Amino acid sequence: MDAVGYYNGEFAPLAELKIPALDRGVYFGDGVYEAVRVDQHRFFALDEHLDRLQNSLAFLRIPFSMSRETLKAVLQEVADRVDSAHQQLYFQVTRATAARTHSFPEGAEPNLLVFSREVPFADVNEPRKVIVLPDIRWKYCNIKTLNLIPAVLAAQTAKERGCCEAVFHRDGVVTECSSSNLLMLKGGALHTAPADEHILPGVTRGHFLMLARQMNIPVVERAFTLEQAYGADELMITSTSARGLPVREMEGRAVGGGDSALLKKLQAAYQSYADDRMASAGE
Ligand code: PDD
Repeated sequence: MDAVGYYNGEFAPLAELKIPALDRGVYFGDGVYEAVRVDQHRFFALDEHLDRLQNSLAFLRIPFSMSRETLKAVLQEVADRVDSAHQQLYFQVTRATAARTHSFPEGAEPNLLVFSREVPFADVNEPRKVIVLPDIRWKYCNIKTLNLIPAVLAAQTAKERGCCEAVFHRDGVVTECSSSNLLMLKGGALHTAPADEHILPGVTRGHFLMLARQMNIPVVERAFTLEQAYGADELMITSTSARGLPVREMEGRAVGGGDSALLKKLQAAYQSYADDRMASAGE
C-alpha cells in the first residue's frame, strides 16, 4: 500500500482512516507528535525520537502508558504495510476523546494515531533558498506539540516566495526554521543555537554535533544573529529527511558557499553514520 494509517488498534489505508471529532487533538491540538525516517522498513534513531516524545508527553502531562516495546511493534507494523522503501512515519498521542472542556477530562485514555507514506530524502547537493521571519511561536518550542500554526504559515510564505524554508529569529537572534534546525559553519567551526526552550532539539542536529566533535571540528552551541548568518561560510538545514541541506540564498541575498569542503565532509560523515547504523541494527 502507498500510505497506511493506524488509530487506537485499527489499521486502514490512510485515505480511509477516520478519527472521532471529539479527539482533543482535533479541537485543541492537545497532543504531541514525532516524525521518523523509515528506510528499507527499518527505523532510524527511533529511540531518540521516543525519548523526545516522552519529554513532550511529560510536559503536557499526558499519561500515555503503552510500553515502548508495544509502541515500537505498532510503528513497525504500519511501516511494514507500506510498500515504499523510503518513508516518513508520523505518530501523535493526544490527551483523550471527550466533550470539549478546557481542563483535563477524567478517566479518558490517550489516543495513538500513526501514519506512514513515501517521502524521499531531500537532495543534499541542491542549493536552497530561504526566507527570514520573526519567530512568533510560543515559549516552549522544545516541546513537539501539535500546535503548528506559525510553522504552517511560515512554510506557506516560504513556498509562495519560491523558498524551501523560513528561518525564524527573535529580535534578530536566529532560533531555527519552521520544521528544521539551522546550522552555520564559520571559521572552521560548527555553530548552532543552544538546545533551550527556543528550539526543538532536533535528532539530526544532535547527530551532526556529535559527528563534528568526533572529527575535531569545534562546536559552538550559542545563539547567533541574522547578521552573523548572512556572513556565514555555510548555512545548512537539518531534519529527519533533510540531512544537511546547503542554503545559498537568504531573503534574496547570496549566503554560504565559503566552505563547501567542510560542508561536504559533514554531509558525508552523516550519510555514512546513518548508513552504518541502519546496516547494523536499524533504529
Ligand atoms: N520537523 N525544528 C522544528 C521546528 C521541527 O519541526 C523539526 C522536525 C526539526 C528537526 O528535528 P529532527 O531532526 O528531529 O527531525 C527542528 C519534523 C520533520 C516535522 O514536523 O515533520
